[in-house]
Amino acid sequence: MYNFASSILKKFPPELAHSLTIKLLKFSNFNKKIIDDPILFQHLMGLDFPNPIGLAAGFDKNAEVVRPMFNFGFGFVEIGTVTPNMQIGNKKPRVFRLSNDKAIINHLGFNNRGIVKVKKNLNKIRNTYYNNKIIGINIGKNKKTINSIDDYLFGLENLNSLSSYITINISSPNTKGLRDLQLKGNIEGFIKKINKKKSEIESINKKPLLIKISPDLNDDQLRDIALISLSNNIDGLILTNTTVRRPEYLKSKIIPDFGGLSGKPLFSISNDIQKKIYNFTNGQIPLIGVGGISNGNECYEKIKSGASLVQLYTSLVYSGPLVVKKIKNELKYLIKTDGYKNVSEAIGKSV
Ligand SMILES: Cc1cc2nc3c(=O)[nH]c(=O)nc-3n(C[C@H](O)[C@H](O)[C@H](O)COP(=O)(O)O)c2cc1C
Repeated sequence: MYNFASSILKKFPPELAHSLTIKLLKFSNFNKKIIDDPILFQHLMGLDFPNPIGLAAGFDKNAEVVRPMFNFGFGFVEIGTVTPNMQIGNKKPRVFRLSNDKAIINHLGFNNRGIVKVKKNLNKIRNTYYNNKIIGINIGKNKKTINSIDDYLFGLENLNSLSSYITINISSPNTKGLRDLQLKGNIEGFIKKINKKKSEIESINKKPLLIKISPDLNDDQLRDIALISLSNNIDGLILTNTTVRRPEYLKSKIIPDFGGLSGKPLFSISNDIQKKIYNFTNGQIPLIGVGGISNGNECYEKIKSGASLVQLYTSLVYSGPLVVKKIKNELKYLIKTDGYKNVSEAIGKSV
């Protein structure tokens, strides 16, 4: 049924297909109890991950379909990016399928319903069975905000208690100037201010803090982020967001030159970044590998390249939600074939 629905949805323009998907999922009201093989379990950042496959930010920006996404077998779900105030994002059309490349280009620009609405949605699921599930909240800034840090501090203060972890998104290519927060002169002061705000939160409510970074940074910039993250107790790094690069191996005929590219062509780009960060941090910070994962082999490669966890988005569009179960089965097989007792033993083995 899901494969059928996916193939129908692909006939609609991408953004319309996405909103129809969200509407359909909202009305699927079953609760599926999924028991994962213990070989996939990890205790990381103080959290119990039943399996390492997570939903990447951007699919469920407003926490509307968290429950159905767990029913598809994800081990954790990251919602957002959420900004303090609701905003409509950039001009349409702003999402493009590059079907021949199994890729997407998006230029959405943090369209979301804002913190108040997202809090309401999260409160609904936090009082249910989903209370024990790992739900990350990815926060960002409004387009019009001049002092970016204020928006992140506001997001942290308001969403921390409803999250399992908070992701600071400073890597979207679709909000002007956002990615500059990653640069040396900015990032250390930025993280220190975030940490100060975190220190004001009651310790029982403190949640792990992760930073999501761009695949378009050079080696010096990656080294800076790695060292600054280490010295400021950042709990995890998410690698990577979409790229503004347009690799020459893209096969599609029409390729917008604005927006961020995700999916298959991002796989090796984000994997290279991940390996570098794993080396710069000496494997001391948990990494979440994102970019172009659509099967067990690719997931396993990310893990062997240093990722403790992975996330995906674009392969849901091309393969449908059953891809999650498929990846988990293939991953289990690969771990066992290599003679590892569990997923943790494979982390970083090929770096
Ligand atoms: C349509 C679309 C919207 C996205 N929106 C966000 C977002 O709001 N925040 C964010 O951190 N990443 C966002 N991303 C990036 C994904 O979370 C992920 O980092 C990227 O797509 C690479 O993974 P993938 O190749 O599995 O899609 C978005 C990606 C897509 C395709």
